Amino acid sequence: MQALAANKVHDEARQGEAFAPFANDENTYSKKFYIESYGCQMNFSDSEIVASILQSGGFGATRNYEEADLVLLNTCSIREKAEQTVRKRLTEFRKIKEAKPGLLVGVLGCMAERLKSKFLEEEKLVDIVVGPDAYRTLPVLIEEAETGQKSVNVLLSREETYADISPVRLDSNGVTAFVSIMRGCNNMCSFCVVPFTRGRERSRDAHSIIAEAQDLFNRGYKEVTLLGQNVDSYYWAPPLNPLSRGGKEEAVTFAKLLEMVAQVSPELRVRFSTSHPKDITDEVLLTMARYDNICNYIHLPLQSGSTRVLQLMNRTYTREWYAAKVNRIREIIPDCGISSDIIAGFCTESEEDHAGTLSMMESSAYDMSYMFFYSERPGTLAARRYKDDVPEEVKKRRLKEIVELQNRLSYQSNKQDVGKTFNVLIEGNSKRSEADWMGRNSQNKVIVFPKGSYNYKKGDYVLVKVNDFTQATLIGEMVK
Ligand code: 5AD
Ligand code: SF4
Repeated sequence: MQALAANKVHDEARQGEAFAPFANDENTYSKKFYIESYGCQMNFSDSEIVASILQSGGFGATRNYEEADLVLLNTCSIREKAEQTVRKRLTEFRKIKEAKPGLLVGVLGCMAERLKSKFLEEEKLVDIVVGPDAYRTLPVLIEEAETGQKSVNVLLSREETYADISPVRLDSNGVTAFVSIMRGCNNMCSFCVVPFTRGRERSRDAHSIIAEAQDLFNRGYKEVTLLGQNVDSYYWAPPLNPLSRGGKEEAVTFAKLLEMVAQVSPELRVRFSTSHPKDITDEVLLTMARYDNICNYIHLPLQSGSTRVLQLMNRTYTREWYAAKVNRIREIIPDCGISSDIIAGFCTESEEDHAGTLSMMESSAYDMSYMFFYSERPGTLAARRYKDDVPEEVKKRRLKEIVELQNRLSYQSNKQDVGKTFNVLIEGNSKRSEADWMGRNSQNKVIVFPKGSYNYKKGDYVLVKVNDFTQATLIGEMVK
């Protein structure tokens, strides 16, 4: 099954540049690790935690797997296709390992959690299998594997948030960074494997989040994206011992956390992902409206526009509830960018249900969507309860219609931006030309514009007027 994004706005941002931690590895570390991440932003963020744990264990990062002593794949299970991609990559590393017997290969993340030690039976040349809550034990597991044993730790935790670990920024542009604020998910959407691979929801100590954001800002970063499967249910209560923190501290909700991060500096932009329509509150929207540096952009996955299907999906909202939420967002933040996730062909989905999805997309007027075929995942509620009964060609045709509609919506959205001027944070050179900058506006749209004779640099804010656009990118020029 295939994942399609109509508006590839993220592509421009993928151009990594050489930054620490790679720079001094030669001298500092006796051994090297190479890591590849697949799937969601949370996995990329987790790899930075893993890098930090490995550095403390004496491993330096390398971008070249040929010089690595340890190769790690941080994997995704969300759709079958994601797992196939990783399996293919593992067969490539199997060949490399045959030629270099000392090389250790480890599988991290959701596939590790889902398949557990089955992985070692299926993929004979995998040495280490570590689930998302067991990364602290990596150094011990590596030591075990070095003696020829197969090492597995897939224990899930109710407490682990890696709050005290300072992530090592891998392939960073030095301007934008992810900050993980919670782990796991309690929602149990029936199609989703995440509650099984990432365990129960838990929120990270608010103080450690603020400290991380402050530290990033001090090091020149200008944007943080707060990450969680369901950020709106963030809730952190201070420790019970009143003496430990002065005794008067209140619990921190997501709205409060957003405000605290926004107060680090007006020069630090704040984004967040992902919001569940049932949990995003007025308080969050009002906080966004109050702070200029909280970006006007919400990723609000719809999944389906049919109330009947939403019920089978266990999404706990109706079509009308979702529409009301979108209206509320537009009321409080009129220029808010909104994007969505859509699944085509969930169990029992009829043509009428599908038409409902299309009409909801249209009325929500998404700027961008991530669109997928339904892919049955073993062990999920849907796999146990419902038949995956929409034929593949029907799923494909419906997905195609969804993608075509989103293309039209993205076109309209971009067209409306022509003539407007946006405050843009410069993230780096444009992919196509070193004579152009690439940045984003508050709504998360990528804007490319000529550098001209000005002396701006990455991390600067500039005003850019939009003159034109392609499907994925706005094109503009700086204005005074
Ligand atoms: N099949 C297809 N898409 C899925 N997603 C989650 N599980 C599945 C599945 N089994 C999509 C949802 C979710 C996004 C991260 O991936 O749209 O929001
Ligand atoms: Fe999966 Fe639903 Fe949790 Fe998102 S909110 S991770 S789709 S169970």
